[in-house]
Amino acid sequence: MTRLLSLADIEEAAALLCAGGLVAFGTETVYGLGADATNGQATAAIFAAKGRPRFNPLICHFPSAEAAFAHVLATETAHRLAAAFWPGPLTLVLPRAPGTQINLLASAGLDTLAIRVPASEAARALLQAAGLPIAAPSANRSGSVSPTTAAHVLADLDGRIDAVFDTGPATIGLESTVLDLTGLTPFLLRPGGVPAEAIEALIGPIGRGIAPAPGEAPRGLRSPGLLASHYAPVLPVRLNATSTAATEALLAFGPPLQGAALTSNLSETANLSEAAANLFAALRWLDAEGARLSLTAIAAMPIPATALGAAINDRLQRAAAPRQEP
Ligand code: TXA
Ligand code: MG
Repeated sequence: MTRLLSLADIEEAAALLCAGGLVAFGTETVYGLGADATNGQATAAIFAAKGRPRFNPLICHFPSAEAAFAHVLATETAHRLAAAFWPGPLTLVLPRAPGTQINLLASAGLDTLAIRVPASEAARALLQAAGLPIAAPSANRSGSVSPTTAAHVLADLDGRIDAVFDTGPATIGLESTVLDLTGLTPFLLRPGGVPAEAIEALIGPIGRGIAPAPGEAPRGLRSPGLLASHYAPVLPVRLNATSTAATEALLAFGPPLQGAALTSNLSETANLSEAAANLFAALRWLDAEGARLSLTAIAAMPIPATALGAAINDRLQRAAAPRQEP
């Protein structure tokens, strides 16, 4: 049985994590499925609960930059980025510190570690109470849409994890930006909550990948979790729709197209932050209702590729990509 814990139950949530349990918890981006990153069995249980097809590296979460940097070889750029964007939706990939107790499974055997300090105060309080590095991928079944509420987590993982620490709906609604700082030039591995433009304003130009071929990571095996098909609803997703049919569910942005059987509007005023916060819940709802009504597809209206729009388009492209074998 998966227990639903509220903010008042924080000590219980922390104790479960310390005992090697699996506890999903809210952050400002999406809900994470947390486990003690120094405990190999607990970390392995994350992959089993999610049904992850292989061991993709996980992000380790900390209550402060100081706690995070104890586990990596941090650079000056890393410190500048942390000062500007932490706590917040930015994940930094750095070389593992030789003495770190974080087990290798958490980073899928790589000699690097992804670290993040979430902005959510409830999440940081939980990380502080646990006093351990907490590995946490998004708390969904592998390949499906990321969860932005405790109810989404339960829909995917009820009975497979120990508890959900309910911190309310995620305010950003899109995963963190993942930035690789191990090469000569910082490299954007995943667009996310901190726009690439904001990072470049601070540290200058960063490298960016092109959309990966199915099954391929953008930079060799450096970020094996970045599969082309991800966030996949059951219904096919049709991108950049400029018209829609009565057999389709519409994911609208701004003034909606007419004629769809079902519409969810990410933002009637075409506000990108509002759209990001609504994206995953909208995809889940259109998918469930669309399947119930036997619709043929989710048609997604175009979204500008600026600021958070880059991350929204990245998620929509993955949702629309041809499905891969698990
Ligand atoms: O907002 C987020 O980042 C959420 C919340 C829970 O913090 N977490 C999340 O985790 O999105 P996940 O596992 O769904 O995505 C982690 C991404 C994957 O694309 C993975 O490949 C990449 O980060 N990653 C993790 N460790 C890495 C490493 N050492 N090197 C390169 N990429 C890494
Ligand atoms: Mg994920």
